[in-house]
Amino acid sequence: MARSQPSKEDLAQDRLPKAPLNRETLGQAIELARYVRPYRTRFLIGLATLFVSAALGLAFPFLSGALIDAAMKPGEAVLPMLGAISVNEVGLLLACAVTIQALCSFNSALAFNRVGQSALADLRRDCYRRLISLPMSFFGQRRVGELTSRITTDVAQIEGTLIDLLPQLCRQSVFLFGGIVIIALTSIRLTGVMLGTLPLLIAAAVFFGRKLRRFSRETQDQLAATNTIVEETLQAIASVKAFANEVFEVGRYEKSNARVLAAALGAARWRAVFVAFFIIALFGGIVIVLWFGAAQLQAGRISPGELTRFGLYTIFVGGAMGQAAELFNQVQKSVGATQRVRELLREPTEVASDGSDVTAPAGLSARLRGEVAFESVSFRYPARPEVAVLNDIVLSAKSGERIALVGPSGAGKSTITALLLRFYNPDTGRLLIDGRDARNYPLHWLRGQMAIVPQDVLLFGGSIAENIVYGRPGADAAAIREAARLANAHEFISAFPEGYETLVGDRGIKLSGGQRQRIAIARAILKDPAILILDEATSSLDSESERLVQEALDHLMKGRTTFIVAHRLSTIRTADRIAVIEAGRVVELGNHDELSAKPDGLYRRLSSLQFGQPDASGQPVVF
Ligand SMILES: Nc1ncnc2c1ncn2[C@@H]1O[C@H](COP(=O)(O)OP(=O)(O)OP(=O)(O)O)[C@@H](O)[C@H]1O
Ligand SMILES: [Mg+2]
Repeated sequence: MARSQPSKEDLAQDRLPKAPLNRETLGQAIELARYVRPYRTRFLIGLATLFVSAALGLAFPFLSGALIDAAMKPGEAVLPMLGAISVNEVGLLLACAVTIQALCSFNSALAFNRVGQSALADLRRDCYRRLISLPMSFFGQRRVGELTSRITTDVAQIEGTLIDLLPQLCRQSVFLFGGIVIIALTSIRLTGVMLGTLPLLIAAAVFFGRKLRRFSRETQDQLAATNTIVEETLQAIASVKAFANEVFEVGRYEKSNARVLAAALGAARWRAVFVAFFIIALFGGIVIVLWFGAAQLQAGRISPGELTRFGLYTIFVGGAMGQAAELFNQVQKSVGATQRVRELLREPTEVASDGSDVTAPAGLSARLRGEVAFESVSFRYPARPEVAVLNDIVLSAKSGERIALVGPSGAGKSTITALLLRFYNPDTGRLLIDGRDARNYPLHWLRGQMAIVPQDVLLFGGSIAENIVYGRPGADAAAIREAARLANAHEFISAFPEGYETLVGDRGIKLSGGQRQRIAIARAILKDPAILILDEATSSLDSESERLVQEALDHLMKGRTTFIVAHRLSTIRTADRIAVIEAGRVVELGNHDELSAKPDGLYRRLSSLQFGQPDASGQPVVF
C-alpha cells in the first residue's frame, strides 16, 4: 500500500510496465533462468527446504486442532496413526514442527538470497558489459535515465522475483491447495461455505485496493514533480542565486506542493473506507466460517479441535487468496522487466566482445601513418534520419598534416570527427585511413591509434593521475609526469597539496576549463596517437591559459595527423589546410592566405568580423 513518502526506487518500481502473461513471454522470462544455472544445487536445496517448511506450516493448524481435542477428549485418538496421545505429547510435536520449520525457512531464505544475489550480480555485469559496448547510434536514440533504469530498476525487479516472489508463490500455493484439501477431508460442508464466501470478499477487497492505488499513484506523480523542482534547482543553484530567483522557485515549489496535498487529501477518505472494508472482508469471512462451524459443533458433526483447525486453515487459505492478486501483479512486472533486460542483452554490440579486435590487422604495421580521406561522405544521425548532417564531404589529410575545420555552429564539424572515430559509419561514400576503408580495421585497434581532446572535457571521479593514465592504462608514474609536463599541466598539478593524487570530479576539486583541457591533452600525449582530434572549446580562456594550452597543443600535434575543430585564429593560421564547413558541406578549402584572398568567400566574411581584433593575444575567433 502507498506510503506518504515513497522513495525514488519505489516510484520507479511501481511504474514498471507489466507484460501480458502468455507462453511466449513466460518462455522468454525463463530464458534468464540460465543465470541461476551455476548455482542450481543451492537453488534446488533452497526449493526443497522451502516446500518442507511450507508443509510444516500447513501442519500447524492440524496439530493445534489435535491439541484441543487431546485436552477435551483425553484417551481418544486425535491424530491418525498415533493412537491416544496426551496434551504434552501433542505440544511437543508442535514445538518440534515449529523448530524444524524455522530451520528449513532459515535455510531456504539463505539459499534463495545467495542464489538470487549471485545470479543478479552476474546479470548486472552482463548488462553493463553489453551496454557499454553498444554503438553510439544506440545511445543517441535512448535517454540515459531509461538505460540506467534497465540496470537498476529492472534488475531489482528480477532480483525481487528470485528472492521473494518465487518462494512466496511456492509457499502460498502449498497453503492454498494443501489447506483446501485438508479441510475438505474434515468437512465438505464447511469447505463449501468457506469457498462460497472468501473468494467473493477477497475479490472485492482487491478491487477496492486497485482503486485506492490509482489515487495514491496520482499523489506519487505529483510528489515526483515536486521533487524534480528540488533536484533541478539544487543542480543549478548557482543560476538560481545569480538570478536572485529564490522567491520565484519557492513559489513554484509551493504550488506543486499544494497539488501533492490536494491529491493526498482526496485519497484520504478512500483510504479510510478501504481500511474499514478490509476489516469487514477479512474478519467477516472468518466470522461466517466460525459461525457455521459453531453450529456444526453444536450439532456434534465436528469436534472442537476440528473447528479450531478449520478456523486456522481458513486464515491460511484466505491469506493465500488475498496475496494471489498482488503476486500475479508482480509476476507480470517481472516478466516485463525480463523482457527489457533480455532485449538489452540481445542488442548487437559494435565490437567483438571477445576482445579479438585489439591487435593490428595482418600485413599492417603496428602504427598507422595517419593518412585520412573522406570520399564523398554523406551522413544522417540514426536518431534524426530526416536531417542530412553531412553532404558529400571530400577532405583528405596526408600523414602529419593539420586540417582545421571551421564554420558556423551546427555546421557538422563535430560530426566529421565522430565519423573519423567511427562512432558512426558514413551512409554513402567512404572513409579511408591509410588507403583502406575504415570499416575494415578492427575497431578497438583503430581507436587505439587515435586520441581526442573534446570540446568539453569531462573528468572521471578519481585522482588526476588516474585521469591522465586513462590515455594508456598501465603507464608508470614517470610517464604520467612527463605527459603532464609536455601538456603544461605539471606546474598547476604540483601546486596542489596532494599533487597527482588530488581528487577531481564530483567529489573532488573543481578544475578550471583550461586546466581540464591540459589534463585531456596530457591524456592524449600519453596515448601517443597517430591521428589526433581536437575539438576546441568555444569558450574563451584568458590569454595566459590560452598560451599554456596552445603550447601544450603544439607539443601534442607534432608528428601526427591532426583534425582540429578550430575557433581561434592562432590555431587556424598554423593549419596546413582549412576546410570551411557550412550546412554539412565543405564550401571552401585552402590555407589561411588562400582563403583570405577569396573576395566573397565565407572564410573571409566570417573572419573579417574578427580581424579588427588583435589575434595574437588569443582572442577567440568565433566561426
Ligand atoms: N547525436 C546526434 N543526434 C542527432 N543529431 C545530432 C547529433 N549530434 C549533432 N546533431 C545535429 O547535427 C548537426 C551538426 O552538429 P555538430 O555537432 O556536428 O555541429 P558543430 O559544427 O560541431 O557545431 P558547434 O560548433 O556548435 O560545436 C546539428 O544540427 C546537430 O543538431
Ligand atoms: Mg561541435
